[in-house]
Amino acid sequence: MDSSWKTIIEPFKIKAVEPLGFTQAPERERVLKDAGYNVFNIPADKVLIDFLTDSGTSAMSSEQWACLMRGDESYAGARSFFTLEKTVRELTGYRHVLPVHQGRAAERILMTVVCGPGKTVLSNSHFDTTRANVEAAGASAVDLPVAEALQFDLPGPFKGDMDARALEAKVRALKPENVPMIIMTMTNNSLGGQPVSMRNLREVSEIAHHYRIPLILDAARFAENAFMIKRREPGYSKRPAREIAKEMFSYGDGCMMSAKKDALVNIGGFLALNDAEWVRRAREVLILGEGFPTYGGLAGRDLEAMARGLDEVLEEEYLAYRLRSVEYLGDGLRKAGVPVVEPPGGHAVYVNAKKFLEHIPPSSFPGQALVCELYLTAGIRAVEIGSLMFGEGQNGNFKPARMELVRLALPRRVYTQSHIDFVVEVFAEIAKRKDLIRGMKLLESSPRLRHFTAKLMPEVA
Ligand code: F0G
Repeated sequence: MDSSWKTIIEPFKIKAVEPLGFTQAPERERVLKDAGYNVFNIPADKVLIDFLTDSGTSAMSSEQWACLMRGDESYAGARSFFTLEKTVRELTGYRHVLPVHQGRAAERILMTVVCGPGKTVLSNSHFDTTRANVEAAGASAVDLPVAEALQFDLPGPFKGDMDARALEAKVRALKPENVPMIIMTMTNNSLGGQPVSMRNLREVSEIAHHYRIPLILDAARFAENAFMIKRREPGYSKRPAREIAKEMFSYGDGCMMSAKKDALVNIGGFLALNDAEWVRRAREVLILGEGFPTYGGLAGRDLEAMARGLDEVLEEEYLAYRLRSVEYLGDGLRKAGVPVVEPPGGHAVYVNAKKFLEHIPPSSFPGQALVCELYLTAGIRAVEIGSLMFGEGQNGNFKPARMELVRLALPRRVYTQSHIDFVVEVFAEIAKRKDLIRGMKLLESSPRLRHFTAKLMPEVA
């Protein structure tokens, strides 16, 4: 397609449609109260625009739906497994491919194999389930993002990078034998969906290999990361996204993949590794929890659709549209006076709730207050990434998170430009009366991943 046009269009037409969940304000008030002011408890048909996650919410293509009929449902050695294995090997270069039902299963298997007491995993940032799996296996998880990752107002091209000097210092302090692996999360979901540069990946890979520590990529959003490298890193603008992605994988020794993101499927994942001994042990854990190693807890049709999605996601018309739609939402919010993490990420725009709702202290969860306000105002569902998700304790011993964000994650190929325009209009309206929004009080929570189960209520004025 000629690249001289200014308007980037959705590179698809729509064949099947699904109605949105229209509701009235009094109903939303009731629904939110019944949900304990936790939007994870809201029935999806009471949600108008669902920005809770980009995970497993993609629209599959007609070809992917056709793949479902092609799936081979044999228990062992299914043809669909070999299709997936070939695709993953070609893309990543890793020798062994183990399908799993989703990303956290790959995490659990890998952590069970390599982690244990006294070990520390280092990362640019562990996603919350990754951290939980490292800790559940008895090890510690330490994040080493670059300093600018936490300066939310400052745009930077590669705020997902790892602090390479801090990494080397930490490896020496801990001793390399106590660091079973280094994880590079691409893009960095916990800190704004920001990409990692090839330069940083190369540098981290050199450090890792110098100390003989395997480098594992959390590749959930590898294609978005690759396209941001193409757009932002000198020397990559003419290289196809597929080649850039291959180069990214070439610096690692394996990857964990949640296929629910950049493999454009509703369920699935894989673990791909080079080390034969790790794979032998991973297979044992896989059989215990997921199933036989050629299906890993998935149907043959899922494997087939995943292989197809890994191909489609690297089409450049798709990637240009994908990044533009996120940027478009970011532009709209900025214009409406809503502070966002700059620049917008690959899969989501993150609103800086601490700055937007300055009158609400972290102990009263400004992010969650905004999440609730979005639902009450227009049935928009988002997710808090702040002290509800990452803070500890409550009342007297409350320890806030490093940030108070609200993530608006865009499902892939699902919403159109007018949906985004609507969301921007809602934000502009909320911005006018934001000083009236009240904080939230935590009533009930569990010690790990508490945002999934917490119950809250609005503070009394
Ligand atoms: N790694 C990253 C970077 C993720 O964002 C996620 C999931 C996982 C691993 C785990 O994968 O869900 O397939 O088990 N992120 C979702 C989200 C849940 O909303 O950001 P999973």
